[in-house]
Amino acid sequence: MNPEVQALCREIRPYLSARPHYVYVRTFGCQQNVADGEKMLGMAVEMGYVPCDDPDRADLILVNTCAVREHAERRVLSVIGSFRRLRETRPGLIIGVTGCMTARTARVEQLRRSYPYVTFTLAPGRLAEMPRCILHALRRIAGEQRGSRRSFCLPDDAASVEEGLPVLRAERHRAWVPVMYGCDNFCSYCIVPYVRGRERSRDSAEIVSEVRGLVSAGVKEITLLGQNVNSYRGSCTFPELLEQLAALPGDFLLHFMTSHPKDASPALIRVMAEHPTRVSSHLHLPLQSGSDRILAAMNRRYTLERYRGIVRDLRAAIPDASLTTDIIVGFPGETEEDYERTLDALREFRFDLVYAFVYSPREGTVAASLPDAVPEEEKKRRINRLLEMQATISAECAQRHVGKTLRVLVDSPARVGDGDVYAARTSQNKLVHFHSPVDLTGRYVTLRIDRADAFALYGTPVDEPPARD
Ligand code: SAH
Ligand code: SF4
Ligand code: F3S
Repeated sequence: MNPEVQALCREIRPYLSARPHYVYVRTFGCQQNVADGEKMLGMAVEMGYVPCDDPDRADLILVNTCAVREHAERRVLSVIGSFRRLRETRPGLIIGVTGCMTARTARVEQLRRSYPYVTFTLAPGRLAEMPRCILHALRRIAGEQRGSRRSFCLPDDAASVEEGLPVLRAERHRAWVPVMYGCDNFCSYCIVPYVRGRERSRDSAEIVSEVRGLVSAGVKEITLLGQNVNSYRGSCTFPELLEQLAALPGDFLLHFMTSHPKDASPALIRVMAEHPTRVSSHLHLPLQSGSDRILAAMNRRYTLERYRGIVRDLRAAIPDASLTTDIIVGFPGETEEDYERTLDALREFRFDLVYAFVYSPREGTVAASLPDAVPEEEKKRRINRLLEMQATISAECAQRHVGKTLRVLVDSPARVGDGDVYAARTSQNKLVHFHSPVDLTGRYVTLRIDRADAFALYGTPVDEPPARD
């Protein structure tokens, strides 16, 4: 562990020793944030806090924020707002806000002014400073030092790669492993490069050693994370890194996301095809729009034809591969004609799943100052029609799994049905529901797929469920 973090955590422990102190972490946004949230929890536990699921009981509340769309920011602010009453009844409560919203000076100013009970903010890339912020607050709460308990850590331009922070993972059978941080692509609509900073890759030896450790601890599926894993440059390329990881001994599967089409390479597809039991044959390849004119305005740096080439190569090498994408509707200047091109692309590529978003202007991005905004009503019409069309395509695509026998990893009891339904994922990350009298969470199970809809597959175990450990 990072020795400075470890020393600070030790200094904090005596402040928490009189009774159990609880920490509650609420994470918004993408898997990068989920991975950060697990580090925050890991550090809090190292300090002596006990994790809990109830903010009303917590002594330390950490809100890990997302700024990608206005809707996300509004949800975050309403959750932070709901903690006001807690601080009123618990003067010793510490509330920390981390994640992408806290990278922007204007947002931090807003939190400082309108949410005076927020104790500290910590921009992405500065997680290692969390123990310092908490110690600062605890000393002032204990009356040992005078002055404000509040602190605000803005982004540090020299932010490097955070290694050596303790991690408390939510699941024992799956793990997130960031391979790089930040983004240099500056898609014209996107806030991420402004809040996550410049691209930094982790050293491949660090990643290999982390994955080796996870596998020997029994983790079965590992998702490698980056805003664009294809621009990973950590003493080797991303396909080379995948190859090294695929060669490790053990029974595990590698997933990865996200791949930017501008540099999804034949080498990536080759490694996927050569390691079908080690590397998931699922590619998440955000298209964003089917119109070349809009793709250019989005600064995506590929054309529909280039995208088509990648899909062709993928399906030639792995006919059964799963392909998913992200789409934005209502980008400034998107005409009915452009929108129709997007629908045509969905009909052509037949994605297994589409994550569609209504364009949300983000202050400071190039697109935010473009003319010809699409009216909100029209954006809604476009996304609804798109989702409706895609639901039929997704349901049709899912039929190809029916009748197959698949090995799936069980995630948890499903939040549907009458209690004995479990949710599992296929090696292509497709959701499957099945009935089981015993809890098989974290186990591999073989299922025969009986039916499928746009949402999930439905299967039956073909062997007796394996005995529990
Ligand atoms: N790095 C990933 C995307 C991260 S953000 C990639 O390039 O694929 C996830 C998705 O959110 C994006 O793919 C995009 O579809 C959507 N998104 C990003 N900014 C947005 C905005 N301002 N409005 C609406 N959707 C947005
Ligand atoms: Fe945003 Fe584009 Fe970077 Fe993805 S690649 S995080 S969409 S700027
Ligand atoms: Fe949101 Fe930040 Fe991820 S803006 S989508 S949490 S990188």
